[in-house]
Amino acid sequence: MSDDLTVRVNMLMEEMPSSKYDYKGKTVVVTGGAQGIGRCLSLSFAASGAHVIMIDNNVDAMREVVWLFDQMKLRYSSDGSVRPIQADLASRVEIEQAIEAGRPLLEEKGLYLLINNAAIADAHSAHLLGDPEAFDSVLAVNLRAPYLMSSLLEPWLSRTEGSSIINIASTRAFMSEPQSEGYGSSKGGIVALTHAMAATLADSRVRVNCVSPGWIATEHWQQGLPEAVEFSEEDHRQHPAGRVGKPADIAAACLFLGSEDAGFITGVNLTVDGGMTHKMIYK
Ligand SMILES: NC(=O)c1ccc[n+]([C@@H]2O[C@H](COP(=O)([O-])OP(=O)(O)OC[C@H]3O[C@@H](n4cnc5c(N)ncnc54)[C@H](O)[C@@H]3O)[C@@H](O)[C@H]2O)c1
Repeated sequence: MSDDLTVRVNMLMEEMPSSKYDYKGKTVVVTGGAQGIGRCLSLSFAASGAHVIMIDNNVDAMREVVWLFDQMKLRYSSDGSVRPIQADLASRVEIEQAIEAGRPLLEEKGLYLLINNAAIADAHSAHLLGDPEAFDSVLAVNLRAPYLMSSLLEPWLSRTEGSSIINIASTRAFMSEPQSEGYGSSKGGIVALTHAMAATLADSRVRVNCVSPGWIATEHWQQGLPEAVEFSEEDHRQHPAGRVGKPADIAAACLFLGSEDAGFITGVNLTVDGGMTHKMIYK
């Protein structure tokens, strides 16, 4: 490994959540697990011993995550694993094929946790004054796919003790900038989908929660291990918590929500935004 690459891999390892949870032998599905927050989720759960199935449409980025986990294994002395499955989550057929590809592991170990994380994450990709088709595309990936994934994986969740679903929403479910109707609607839908599914799956003892990230800096968690971006003092200071968020902040919340410690928590939204949505701003 080149010196530069070693530095970047070490930097990622420094930014993994420090929370320790034992997911040994448990199967965790992470959609959009190849890049950004999802990359941190895949690596964090695998480091905690889980067998992670990543479902993503970016094959090269998934290959990099598998490689990264090989680099990290020693540090975490984990016998977890990361398994890539390619699918475009906008397509119902490809979602079904992805689940079929994961069936042997699901049959053998059940499914402990599904994290619906993948999204068209550009908040301005579909808006009121733009192409109406774009609205459908955003809803297909950001809202219909989590619904389909949850519905199709329910049989394995239901038969696995302590299982749950975590949907990744956004603070944009509750507040808006102009021209963000598609993304905002999809995330508002995720919050409602979460408490509806929590009610439906109560009899099966499958908990369902969502996490709403605020501003999370994902730049150096993308394919090609780009360098981290430096943010201004003002960027950090405007957050009541004193800094911009990191993927590890979301991974730590998911490690907790998926664990037995969160066994009495279902149907909730956990906002992880450094306090921004509770900050009153009058100018
Ligand atoms: N980063 C933030 O500041 C932030 C803030 C609020 C909410 N979120 C939410 O967190 C989640 C992750 O966001 P991120 O910033 O890491 O995004 P990202 O764009 O960095 O990563 C998204 C991942 O999903 C995959 N993906 C996208 N479309 C797909 C499709 N059609 N089929 C399969 N895979 C697909 C991508 O390949 C990528 O690996 C999203 O749900 C996003 O809405 C992020």
